[in-house]
Amino acid sequence: MLEKNSRKVVEHVKSYYRELYRGKINPTVKVCSGSVLARRLGYSLELLDWLTDHDFPWDYIHPCGNPVRKGLFEPGDFVLNLGCGIGLDACALMFEATEELKAEVGYVVVNVDVVSEVLERACRWVASLRELPDDFTLLWVCADALKLPFTHETFDVVLMNGVFNVFPDKKLLLEELRRVIKKGGRLVIADIFVSTSLPDYVKTEPDAWAWCIAGALTEEEFFELLRSSGFGPCRGLDKEAIDDAFYRGVFAAERVS
Ligand SMILES: C[S@@+](CC[C@H](N)C(=O)[O-])C[C@H]1O[C@@H](n2cnc3c(N)ncnc32)[C@H](O)[C@@H]1O
Repeated sequence: MLEKNSRKVVEHVKSYYRELYRGKINPTVKVCSGSVLARRLGYSLELLDWLTDHDFPWDYIHPCGNPVRKGLFEPGDFVLNLGCGIGLDACALMFEATEELKAEVGYVVVNVDVVSEVLERACRWVASLRELPDDFTLLWVCADALKLPFTHETFDVVLMNGVFNVFPDKKLLLEELRRVIKKGGRLVIADIFVSTSLPDYVKTEPDAWAWCIAGALTEEEFFELLRSSGFGPCRGLDKEAIDDAFYRGVFAAERVS
């Protein structure tokens, strides 16, 4: 029964984002969006200016936090940006490679999303740039997070920004992530957390899974889930209250087993 409901939610979330990226629905929750949201989440002004100057399609971003920060990503890392959407975090890594590393050692970022339309839009935007930093590779792959087309122990880092919570069966997702992350590699998650328990209005809103709210965990549940899936210790990097019930958080953990 649980498995059947879980599959239904995964399919609902996919069709929600397909329609959203096609411009066929407007979220009924009023949230701040685009570059205003990115600024609020702490992406650097230099990055935002650079993206705006290069006609970045701001309408497509849906991040829950800013996970691109020093100490989490090492030059030369092979990074999976899972549920990448338009690829804001790949751009943040690219900008860092240009500005701070002087492009001496870049990154390889594999951007994966299940909606091909958003990947096509992202590719068109990247193609419009005159140049990418040397030694920086961006790849775009259309695939389902629960069935990734990569061999075991491929990535140094798996990054998910506003993606972890869209999955009801998080244990299943973590099994797949553990498979593709190298031992000692990192999992970086930006998402929404619940302070105590989910408010009732969330339970009756069918799109609340897509908004990362219905799948929100408490920190204790999250830590225990990661620990029992082979990741730890879990470091909290950033937290910001949204309202009395929810807050945003950025967390990182290593694959330890
Ligand atoms: C809240 S959005 C976050 C997008 C992006 N990380 C950002 O910061 O703008 C969730 C993303 O997860 C993708 N997604 C949903 N279900 C997925 C699945 N089963 N496999 C891969 N991606 C999925 C959606 O298409 C969407 O782009």
